[in-house]
Amino acid sequence: MQIIAHRGASGLAPENTLKAMAKALELGASAIEIDVQAADGELWVFHDRRLERCTNGKGVLTEQARAYLEQLDAGEGEVIPTLWQVIEIIAGRCELHIELKGAHTADAVAALTQRAETELGFAACQWVVSSFHHPELARFAALRPDIRLGALTANLPLTLAQFAEDLGAWSLNCDVDFVDRLLVEDAHRRGLKVLVYTIDYLDDYETLASMGVDGIFTNRPDRFLVP
Ligand code: G3P
Ligand code: MG
Repeated sequence: MQIIAHRGASGLAPENTLKAMAKALELGASAIEIDVQAADGELWVFHDRRLERCTNGKGVLTEQARAYLEQLDAGEGEVIPTLWQVIEIIAGRCELHIELKGAHTADAVAALTQRAETELGFAACQWVVSSFHHPELARFAALRPDIRLGALTANLPLTLAQFAEDLGAWSLNCDVDFVDRLLVEDAHRRGLKVLVYTIDYLDDYETLASMGVDGIFTNRPDRFLVP
């Protein structure tokens, strides 16, 4: 089962910050997941639509100017990093799952992954690009057909894993609240991996392992990775 550090090691450092990335790398995570949004011509690594929960700022992130976002405190004196800053700190040392948090992200992420392969030694097989926004994911797939896709769902569809197969995804990424053996078996029959969010306790991990789940997103990679 693959252990994916969710928003970096976000149970141990402020989520989606460079500190959370460094912590995940230090723990030996083989993969890190981050959330990406576009604002003022830049890609920012940030989960929420609004700034209040995770920073000392106010408002909707995508409506802000670069100069405003750059000076915010995202916790423990960390800034909101750009996607390029996160890519630079990882520098090909583990896989990176980039979650497109909305519209206007696919083109810029396609360009930056390409640049990282040229300048920083990343390989195309080290990325997984995922999204709940399936049209944006399809747009990304058209731009970078060589990169694996994660089809996210927060619901259990009537047609189970069909939507992920239709998207040409590599994995179906779903919520622990509804994942069951039927969904896992259906995904596997279609040749898809199943990755489940968000798992921070060993008993949940064991339940999912017994269902044949392929990976988990966790805020506490330290609980699952042997030092
Ligand atoms: O990619 C798994 C997980 O990150 C999806 O949900 O809301 O934590 O971004 P969320
Ligand atoms: Mg996410």
